[in-house]
Amino acid sequence: MLLLPLLLLALVSAARSIVLPPPAPGDNPAAMVLVQGADVYPEQYKELGLAIQNATDSPLWVGIAEGFLNNFPNPLQISAVISTVMQDLKEAGMPEEVDVFIAAHSLGGVVVQGYVVSNAASLRGLMLFGSYLTNRPLAEFPLPVLHLSGTLDGGQARPTRMADTYAELMAMEPEHDWAPLLKPVILLEGVDHAHFFTGDIPPSVAEHDILSELDADAARQMLAGRCAAFVALVQNRTLAEDSRTMLRTDYNATGAFLAPLYELQRQEADGERSEWAATAQRYLLNVANESVTVAIESSHEPDLSTLEHQHTTVNATGDTSANISIFSSVEHPLDPVDASPNSHTSSEIAVKMVSQELVASVLPAGTFGPRRSCRDANQLALDTALAAAPDTARERFSRRGHPAVLLDDHMALIGPLWVQERLRLTYGTDGVQVQSVAIETAVDSPFFPGNHYCKLLSPSRALEYVLIDGLRGTQP
Ligand SMILES: *[C@@H]1O[C@H](CO)[C@@H](O)[C@H](O)[C@H]1NC(C)=O
Ligand SMILES: *[C@@H]1O[C@H](CO)[C@@H](O)[C@H](O)[C@H]1NC(C)=O
Ligand SMILES: *[C@@H]1O[C@H](CO)[C@@H](O)[C@H](O)[C@H]1NC(C)=O
Ligand SMILES: *[C@@H]1O[C@H](CO)[C@@H](O)[C@H](O)[C@H]1NC(C)=O
Ligand SMILES: *[C@@H]1O[C@H](CO)[C@@H](O)[C@H](O)[C@H]1NC(C)=O
Ligand SMILES: *[C@@H]1O[C@H](CO)[C@@H](O)[C@H](O)[C@H]1NC(C)=O
Repeated sequence: MLLLPLLLLALVSAARSIVLPPPAPGDNPAAMVLVQGADVYPEQYKELGLAIQNATDSPLWVGIAEGFLNNFPNPLQISAVISTVMQDLKEAGMPEEVDVFIAAHSLGGVVVQGYVVSNAASLRGLMLFGSYLTNRPLAEFPLPVLHLSGTLDGGQARPTRMADTYAELMAMEPEHDWAPLLKPVILLEGVDHAHFFTGDIPPSVAEHDILSELDADAARQMLAGRCAAFVALVQNRTLAEDSRTMLRTDYNATGAFLAPLYELQRQEADGERSEWAATAQRYLLNVANESVTVAIESSHEPDLSTLEHQHTTVNATGDTSANISIFSSVEHPLDPVDASPNSHTSSEIAVKMVSQELVASVLPAGTFGPRRSCRDANQLALDTALAAAPDTARERFSRRGHPAVLLDDHMALIGPLWVQERLRLTYGTDGVQVQSVAIETAVDSPFFPGNHYCKLLSPSRALEYVLIDGLRGTQP
């Protein structure tokens, strides 16, 4: 057991950082200490370091950390490893007075956060590549911080997770006009997790990442441009006008890319209502030719345990009109350490609706189209998500995505079982299979007659499938 710390020390002191001195001296020198992701070798970040240096119009010293045990960044070594980089940079001729930035990819970004907070006084900023602040509010982070990721990152830093951090930025922006410049959250179209490095892609990255049609050199230039702009803005250089335009354009483009996701999430649960639950109910009723009108009042419950005790009602308000009340709740995947590489959007919408048969019995004047199932409502979620997706993503999914396979509803025997059972989402190498859990009771049933309950595919999960999970394993 004593061997491990000794071994660590030996490795740290033996490891020399990769040092990339700037091609020419000049004003406003800065340093960037780059920390690797898991399983990627430090030298695989050399091209990125050179590209950032090349894109920066003042001298940038780049030092790439070496020496993590098992090639795996970890909190035990982080402080010593970064000290070694700083020492190596100074030995190579870096001036004492430089603005120091920490940059880190993937797991490196998670590991480095605590260090950066503890050493904020001696640092100027943090750059997170395919990574994000975990359980730390963006507004409270003590330094400028750049989140830089891509729309095809298929792991932890997938766009649906980055959307949470971008939402924090949007909330800051009205009061802090500078936030998109000094706390930018940028998703670059077509960039994936492996675009930050060159050479072999380790299996742990390949397993989740989405292959991009974007050329690796072009992607690297895009990434380097954003890093250089961020450094210029943090240094508050007078010639930073182009940088300002670049990051403001990125802020708008990222917002436009994420807007459909936010809109679908709003439809799922907006305070005490769920617009999507009402949409699904209307779809299942399939009223024909506007023969009757129904007013649907949806109540959104905080969780399944409160949903369990709510019961639908239908009241005729005339010969051709009725009021219906329905209830729903949304479940989310468990991710306590904020590091899951799997889908991040809501995992199901549980909706207690009324059956078409019941409404037809209450409104005999009505005409109705064919009876619909929960499966049909899931198809509606997929169609809605695809229609809402950003144009590039829709085109990409239509060209190379695995179509989702919808299975007939699994009928639960009794209400409590319906509450307990989850929407069945089975992700495989050919895409996802989706099966709702349903209950439909007859109008003459002694127990809760005329109900139609569905565990529905959420439209945001359907969109995440279009953006990421439906593309996994497919060729660009
Ligand atoms: C350096 O930047 C120029 C544009 O400013 C670009 O054309 C060139 O490819 C870059 N070189 C490297 C090695 O990144
Ligand atoms: C940046 O520099 C300008 C003058 O060039 C100054 O007015 C401004 O306050 C500075 N901003 C920050 C955040 O230091
Ligand atoms: C970003 O969007 C805002 C609001 O639509 C607009 O006023 C601004 O000009 C846009 N900025 C850039 C750089 O495109
Ligand atoms: C039916 O719903 C409407 C609004 O949705 C409401 O104004 C009306 O009072 C309701 N009628 C009954 C009988 O509940
Ligand atoms: C229908 O009527 C019942 C009993 O009056 C009432 O509790 C319920 O809220 C009504 N539902 C709707 C949707 O108006
Ligand atoms: C709705 O109206 C059209 C045209 O009048 C008719 O062809 C169709 O059968 C009607 N649908 C139902 C379900 O009654």
